[in-house]
Amino acid sequence: MQIEQPYELVLFGGLGDLALRKLFPALYLLELDERLPEGRIFAIGRKALEHKVVIAQIKKAVFSHVQPDYQDCDCWQRFAKRLSYVCLDGQNPEDFTVLAAQLDENCPNRLFYLATASSLYADIVANLNTSELIQPTAKVILEKPIGHDLASAKEINKSVAEHFDEKQIYRIDHYLGKETVQNLMVLRFANFIFESQWNQKYIDHIQISISESLGVEKRAGFYEQVGAFRDMMQNHLLQLLCIVAMEPPAKMEPNAVRDEKVKVIKALRPIEGQDILDNVIRGQYKKGVSDGHPVPKYRDEDGVDENSLTETFVAMKVEIENWRWAGVPFYLRTGKRLAERSCEIVVQFKEIPHSIFSLQDKKTMANKLIFRLQPDEGIRLQLCEKKVGSGMKVRPMTLSLNPDDQNAARVPEAYERLLFDALASNPTLFLRDDELMEAWDWVDPILAAWQESESAPESYTAGTWGPAAATLLLAKDGRLWNENN
Ligand code: BG6
Repeated sequence: MQIEQPYELVLFGGLGDLALRKLFPALYLLELDERLPEGRIFAIGRKALEHKVVIAQIKKAVFSHVQPDYQDCDCWQRFAKRLSYVCLDGQNPEDFTVLAAQLDENCPNRLFYLATASSLYADIVANLNTSELIQPTAKVILEKPIGHDLASAKEINKSVAEHFDEKQIYRIDHYLGKETVQNLMVLRFANFIFESQWNQKYIDHIQISISESLGVEKRAGFYEQVGAFRDMMQNHLLQLLCIVAMEPPAKMEPNAVRDEKVKVIKALRPIEGQDILDNVIRGQYKKGVSDGHPVPKYRDEDGVDENSLTETFVAMKVEIENWRWAGVPFYLRTGKRLAERSCEIVVQFKEIPHSIFSLQDKKTMANKLIFRLQPDEGIRLQLCEKKVGSGMKVRPMTLSLNPDDQNAARVPEAYERLLFDALASNPTLFLRDDELMEAWDWVDPILAAWQESESAPESYTAGTWGPAAATLLLAKDGRLWNENN
């Protein structure tokens, strides 16, 4: 897979939080690995700023987000030569002439990245079209969340589809670019031993948990509108669920993979009415201690309404109605200001039907396969072994597989891989329109019920694992969240 060159990458929201924290560091790392061929990168922003000021701002952001070992001034010089800044208001058609003047109309590989609020996508795309900047080979990346419910997502999709064909549209979910997620696919579909176990006969339940120790940082304006459910659950957690639960695709090819993911979303048991109260927990953090520092409650964060009902935590129990997964609960959880930053997928196997050893606890000794996506990436399999010595005592042991073991190769950042794939026109790890619509369709009743009830999320102390109700969600099924492993 190669990037057709020369390319032009036009980044709307070019000085925004995402661009500075993730996109520019990812592009710089591609440069460092000599994977960026000849091409130009245009940061688009609304402030009138001098070129050198913008470059300094981007450099500062890049160097504060990449490891010290990768801060290479020669590489930065090469990278900076590709960068230009264009001051433009995405909603003002006239401004686009400034951009048009800088682009090469014969560029074979033009990629627009919309890293702004999705309510602006329709205007930006329409203005690109009016300025004749969308060639038949151009592509567009749409950052999540796309819309705030099914109706708005459909509306945005329709506006973008007026000017781009589906094959030109790359809906990004950066969790699909994480190394361990790819490894999960390899582990499932390149090994024979797992497939026979990967179903309701052998698996007790699955947990997918993304916890963050950070609060809302400087993104309160965005977060107040979105909340944890739209920010993380509707996209990242559902995508991870799809990869864990999907049937083996016929090929590692974009539509084959996406077809299987859509089938999982379509098979999700609808959660409506009383089920929402029973199986979906919302929380909001109150003051506490995070990473050793006292932190304020969510409602006291800058830019947050003092009566805000926005959830900073969600946990839910989900079921998939098909032969493979009938009766296997999937517990999903995500939140800000939790006890630690981590992301894990835990596949909990059933306990053995009968033990010939005196196991202390058959349940806690049951096999467990843990995919850890962050902060340290790796895979662990919990098995049982004999305790050395006389007698037949059994104890748990863990087999670990760590990407660092592979010749200490640098693990690429998720955005690095996905930006490369989009520039190289490979949409396998991006969402297709029907996937997105099915996901919104499934979550819509939950969001509508919350909006109607106007009830407040349950509070939890910052620095803990979330509200008590989330613990209870599993406890009432006789289970526990996998914590502190
Ligand atoms: C983003 C969310 O999509 O993912 C953020 O908007 C969240 O709120 C981030 O912090 C988490 O990503 P990662 O890769 O740091 O786990």
